[in-house]
Amino acid sequence: MPVRPPQTPPLPSGAALSSLLGGLSAATFMRRYWQRKPLLIRQAVPDAGNIIDRDALFDLAARDDIDSRLITQRRGTWSLDDGPFERDELPSLRSKHWSLLVQGVNLHHEATHALMNRFRFIPDARLDDVMFSYASDGGGVGPHFDSYDVFLLQTHGKRHWRIGAQRDLSLREGLPLKILDRFVPTDEWVLEPGDMLYLPPHIAHDGVAIGECMTCSVGFRAPLAGEMIGQFFFDLAERAGEMPGAARRLRDPGREPTRHPARLPEDLVDTTEAWLRSVSWKREDIAQFIGRYLSEPKPTVVFDGPRRPLDEAAFLARARRNGVSVDPRTALLYDTRCFYINGEVKKLPRESRQTLARLADQKGLEGKDFVTLLAGSPVTLLLHEWYCAGWIRVA
Ligand code: SIN
Ligand code: CO
Repeated sequence: MPVRPPQTPPLPSGAALSSLLGGLSAATFMRRYWQRKPLLIRQAVPDAGNIIDRDALFDLAARDDIDSRLITQRRGTWSLDDGPFERDELPSLRSKHWSLLVQGVNLHHEATHALMNRFRFIPDARLDDVMFSYASDGGGVGPHFDSYDVFLLQTHGKRHWRIGAQRDLSLREGLPLKILDRFVPTDEWVLEPGDMLYLPPHIAHDGVAIGECMTCSVGFRAPLAGEMIGQFFFDLAERAGEMPGAARRLRDPGREPTRHPARLPEDLVDTTEAWLRSVSWKREDIAQFIGRYLSEPKPTVVFDGPRRPLDEAAFLARARRNGVSVDPRTALLYDTRCFYINGEVKKLPRESRQTLARLADQKGLEGKDFVTLLAGSPVTLLLHEWYCAGWIRVA
């Protein structure tokens, strides 16, 4: 079958992206601001108030598969409690200075997932999750800095943000959360629903609710070298038994008798050093590790497949009519050779890759994408497998 040349889809554009970035193109935003300097965007998401309301957020905070935290400030002391929280475990809405943070809302809430998808001019491998916070009057998490880029979108009510690019990022000791010891703000704004503030890593910031308010943080991930090195070797260690030469064993014919039986023999170090130096890996092994690691589901995610799954033929018929969509909790990445889905790697023949790359980039396929797919083809079989695992859905 002839392979169509890969199509280069246009960068996300149009009115929605232009308002999201305050009239800047994605390219200009990335060149001028990303990782470099803060940007305030008035009315970035004019309908931000429709994404999620307070009651729906409180319902999510009561679930045990969602991480939530409650931060309260009383007479200068901060306290932090981990969820889940039933509604009657939260402070009264009338009491001041508390804030509820709910992590990973994009994984469980379609409209929040759709909001996060608006930021996909940045690779999925860099996107982390969307957190929502509710704060009563005067509530916030205190002056702090984050190690990641974040877009702070005001969805309800008003919040007073103060920020500063200070060098001194020392933290107050003995507190349950990260609070800057000396906060020196240089800019301040009141954000109203729809307004958004982009902050690169390490910009000191403090947002205080003016009346009750809700804020959404689209957060990014930037792995540490130590984390990636450690995880790579952990991955390698799991496969060490299958490496070439793994079955060698220490040999020491002709060893001299020892007068110091407790002392480690030098030849043991020499042999181990030689074994370690013989370990090697290719760029492909590194790419596969990154793909698997970065597509690992969040620890709270558990997939349930459909209760009565369709067989492959019925799945294909339904997909031809309605298309398929990627479950919001699924992480699906790819490179030139492989697909990485929820921590697993799949190598596919070249002619199958284009359809799956489209599925990954668009988080779904339309019915017409299935017209030329035959029952029993590698793509159909794989999509059916992913559907049975609950990783993709058919409408
Ligand atoms: C918040 O929403 O209260 C805090 C978000 C942040 O500062 O990163
Ligand atoms: Co922050």
